[in-house]
Amino acid sequence: MSIILIEVDGLLQRFKDSIKKTSENLGSNIVLALDIEEKDPRVLLEKCVEIIDSVSPHICGVKFGRPLILKLSLNEKIRDLIRQAHENKLVTIMDAKVNDVAHTNYSIITQYFDAGFDAIIASPFVGWDGGLDIVFQEASKRNKGVILLVSMSHKGASQGYGRIVMDPDSTKKNPQFICFAKNALAWKADGAVVGATHPNIIFEVKKILGENVPIFAPGVIAQGGSPKDAIKAGADYLIVGRGIFSSSEPEKSAKKIKDEVNSVIE
Ligand code: XMP
Repeated sequence: MSIILIEVDGLLQRFKDSIKKTSENLGSNIVLALDIEEKDPRVLLEKCVEIIDSVSPHICGVKFGRPLILKLSLNEKIRDLIRQAHENKLVTIMDAKVNDVAHTNYSIITQYFDAGFDAIIASPFVGWDGGLDIVFQEASKRNKGVILLVSMSHKGASQGYGRIVMDPDSTKKNPQFICFAKNALAWKADGAVVGATHPNIIFEVKKILGENVPIFAPGVIAQGGSPKDAIKAGADYLIVGRGIFSSSEPEKSAKKIKDEVNSVIE
């Protein structure tokens, strides 16, 4: 008798599909950047728990950053926050900006994946062979996502991500971010980070990625980027930190951004 494998909801799905489903179910494409600053680790943990619970109805995921991991350590506290996000049906992303040679990249990502993260952010500057090859292979084995940093939002990004380089795919020169967008497509990344402060760059990257690789755009509100402009230019998800957790009413702020974005999509 042959065995028929049935794909069960949530399982055997790629990260880009599970975040899409989560976002559609919850009616939000906002990923909360959990960058809360607090000296006392106990108070910091309490604040993180509180903010995740209060804004959960208006977001689809939580992005953890290295500052938080350095303060709390990659231990039970972080695992509890990941579990809390999962219980609230949210996906979790580790913004590790993985950027080293293969064996250390492997050590970094396996620790984050073992802790429970659903996806990891990596830098394409290190390239494929002996750099990110192992990251994509290990993520694929574990059904986890890899999101590539294609272009950044700060001014100095033009010196790296915006630098004009020979495009290995053609005889033409192109900005570095165009080459990275092509890498994201070729390597089957689950996402591409493109700063929301440059909607024109989002637009250019979207032309390459289409619906194959979703765009995650940080840099709205606190850095001046407009949520609506980023979405209109082609961003699929917004990454928002201070615009939510530093406001006097985080839940209201998250809802406001969600509603603003949904008014453009609908
Ligand atoms: P804010 O508080 O500015 O936080 O909403 C943005 C979050 O996104 C992370 N991140 C980036 N931020 N440009 C950014 O402004 C980028 O290109 C970028 N990539 C990632 C940042 O670390 C913070 O968590």
